[in-house]
Amino acid sequence: MLASGGGSNLQAIHDHLAAAGPAAAADLVLVVSDRRDAGALTRARGWNAPAVHLPKERLDDLGTLLAEHRVTLIALAGFLRLVPVDVVRGFRGRIVNVHPALLPKFGGPGMYGAKVHAAVLAAGETVSGPTVHFVDEEYDRGAIIAQQPVPVLANDTVDALAARVLAAEHQLYPACVSAVVSGAVHLDAHGRVRGTPPVPQATP
Ligand code: GRF
Repeated sequence: MLASGGGSNLQAIHDHLAAAGPAAAADLVLVVSDRRDAGALTRARGWNAPAVHLPKERLDDLGTLLAEHRVTLIALAGFLRLVPVDVVRGFRGRIVNVHPALLPKFGGPGMYGAKVHAAVLAAGETVSGPTVHFVDEEYDRGAIIAQQPVPVLANDTVDALAARVLAAEHQLYPACVSAVVSGAVHLDAHGRVRGTPPVPQATP
């Protein structure tokens, strides 16, 4: 998993895998962050999982690092850098991301964190929610695996909406990662999602 921030989605996926025990669909073999002080690295070290700080100047080494750890699926969770193109191409259909809004709206370069939720509120949307998608060469553009609608409430604040959407991410993302690992969902040769994506749960 690649993360730049606190790592609550990393935690959700870790917990999902741990709850499945030996039957888990995947092992979490590596956590990488471009930020030395990322909470995601602290969490990973707490589980004795390999945790590597890879500063942006060394991001071109990512492919080598993934190969060393025999990574077969990459899950981005609040990773704020564009994944190097050699990695995107080498892992096509095997890189996923979670975005805190209903793509294709409210995504793209610079649309992350509070800015996303502020834009949703400014647009007067009544529904938001996370999107899980395959990653391609552009920010937030890859084929969508699943979305979970979350209501935008009257008088919502950025923080309240962000917390509501994040709780939905913690349900949707582990389910989508499991679906990709198990082969229940895949990206076909034409860049379309095939299979049976997880059914979004009721809003937490
Ligand atoms: C999440 O809102 C995710 O959608 C976005 O970045 C945030 C990461 O949060 N891509 P966390 O680090 O997983 O807590």
